[in-house]
Parts: sequence; structure tokens; C-alpha cells
Amino acid sequence: MSFKGKTAIITGASSGMGFLCSQCLAEQGANVVMLATDPKKLQAKVGELTAKGYHALGIPTDVRDYAQVSAACRKAVDAFSSLDIVVNFAGGAATRIFGTEDVPFFDIPIKVFDWGLDVNLKGQFYMGHAAMKYMAAQGSGVIINIGSITGAEATAGDVSYATAKSGVMNGLTKSLALVGAPYGVRCCCVSPGPVLTRPGMADMKTLLGRAADPQEVVDLVLFLASEKASFITGEDILIDGGRLIMKNKGNKG
Ligand SMILES: NC(=O)c1ccc[n+]([C@@H]2O[C@H](COP(=O)([O-])OP(=O)(O)OC[C@H]3O[C@@H](n4cnc5c(N)ncnc54)[C@H](O)[C@@H]3O)[C@@H](O)[C@H]2O)c1
Repeated sequence: MSFKGKTAIITGASSGMGFLCSQCLAEQGANVVMLATDPKKLQAKVGELTAKGYHALGIPTDVRDYAQVSAACRKAVDAFSSLDIVVNFAGGAATRIFGTEDVPFFDIPIKVFDWGLDVNLKGQFYMGHAAMKYMAAQGSGVIINIGSITGAEATAGDVSYATAKSGVMNGLTKSLALVGAPYGVRCCCVSPGPVLTRPGMADMKTLLGRAADPQEVVDLVLFLASEKASFITGEDILIDGGRLIMKNKGNKG
């Protein structure tokens, strides 16, 4: 796969799969526009790529703020003359980030769930809206949303995470595919099961008996973003080591 000359925006790009994806796209010739909230951390990660001679630009952006998201898309096009790929890695479970994992649902302050919905659902919606304008005008592009096994399974743990991710996997991804198709723009979703960006994810069970290496998920994102996936749109692909079908283990048909 070559992404030579393509311009890709990656959100959540200063850590985990967002950084790995930025690095892989840059290695394969893309101009990468890396979005993250913490400017210092972002610059350090952008520096790692530019030091290797790759084309990388960092734009501090909070995906909860449409003005920032829209400005980032414009800056990407100003810098590299096109916007070909968007990958929405920014996200996370609000109850983990706010340290309310052991608090009952009804006692968790609504601001925690607001954060969860804003980052995981509205952030991806905002990116899709802002990017679609440029992609439609150029007649090509691909948007990769990031869901989660939790969006398919549901959870009593972080209800905002399950709600947001399931909205992204189904309504947002399919609707953006419908909006984009007349303009040659595809939209797909990648929904991981446990991924070892955090050691704790190793405890989450899968049919294959392990969590994913981050590269396994990024490889799927790269495939969907490439010309090799030119006939795939509106599709959510679970990459969960068979976790969703574990309960069927004893089924004989
Ligand atoms: N790790 C897993 O097991 C797993 C499983 C399923 C889905 N996912 C999803 O994969 C994505 C990447 O997760 P990861 O495992 O690489 O972890 P990560 O925590 O390294 O990545 C999430 C990134 O999003 C950024 N972010 C948070 N709020 C933001 C905001 N308002 N604006 C911009 N950036 C913001 C964080 O700073 C971080 O860089 C997330 O959407 C996550 O929900 C992860």
C-alpha cells in the first residue's frame, strides 16, 4: 500500500494507535496532519516523524470544539492542497478518565458522560462534517471512524462510551457513506476489542485468548483507507479476536 502524496488527518495522534497510525501513513508517503489536545506532547510526537524526514504537521485541536476541528481541516488543505484521509482515533472511556469506574451509574456526575459523548460521538461527527466539505469538492476521500466492541456489547460500566461508539459504528458511519458516495467519498468504521495500548486490556477475554497488538488494528485502518478497499463503504468491521461470538462457543448448529 502506498499513500504517497495523500494527506491524512489523524485525531488522538499523540499516543497509542493514533500515533502508530500517523507513523505508518507517513512511512508510506502520506502527509500526516496530527491532531491532539496537548501541544507539547503533540510537538514531541510530530518531531519524531519529521526527524525521520517524513511530512508531518501538528495542530493542537480539541475534537469537542467544532471551530477548532474546522480550522484544522482548512489548515491541512492549505498546507498540503488536499484532504484524502481522516482517521478518528480520539476517544476513551469517560469513567476511566474521570476515575469514576466504581461509582454507580446514577451517581456519576453528568459532566463525565457529557465528556464521553462529546469526544467519542460528537468529535467524530464534527470531523466528518468538516472534512466532507473538502473531500466532496475534490471528488474523493475516505473517513475511518473508530468504534469499539463495547458499542456492540453494551456495558453497565461506561454507558456514554457504549452509546457513543454504537452511534458511530452504525448511524454515523452508514450516514456519512450515504452522504459521501455521490462525491466519491467512502466512510468505514473499525471497532476493536481489547488492544494492548494499555496493559490492563490483557485481562479482557477474547475467543483467541489474547488482546490485539495495536499494529493489528492499525493495519486494518490502513487497508480500509487504501485503494485496495475502494469498494467498501458504510461498513463497520469488528476486530475483536472473536469476543462477540464467545457466548456461542458450545453451539453445534
Ligand atoms: N485500547 C483499546 O483496547 C481500545 C478498544 C476499543 C476501542 N478503542 C478506541 O481506540 C481509540 C484509540 O485508543 P488508544 O487505545 O490508542 O488509547 P489512547 O488513550 O492512547 O488514545 C486516545 C487519544 O485520544 C485523545 N483525546 C482524548 N480526548 C480528546 C479530545 N477532546 N480531542 C482530541 N484528542 C483527544 C487522547 O489524548 C489520546 O491521545 C479510542 O477511540 C478508543 O476508544 C481502544
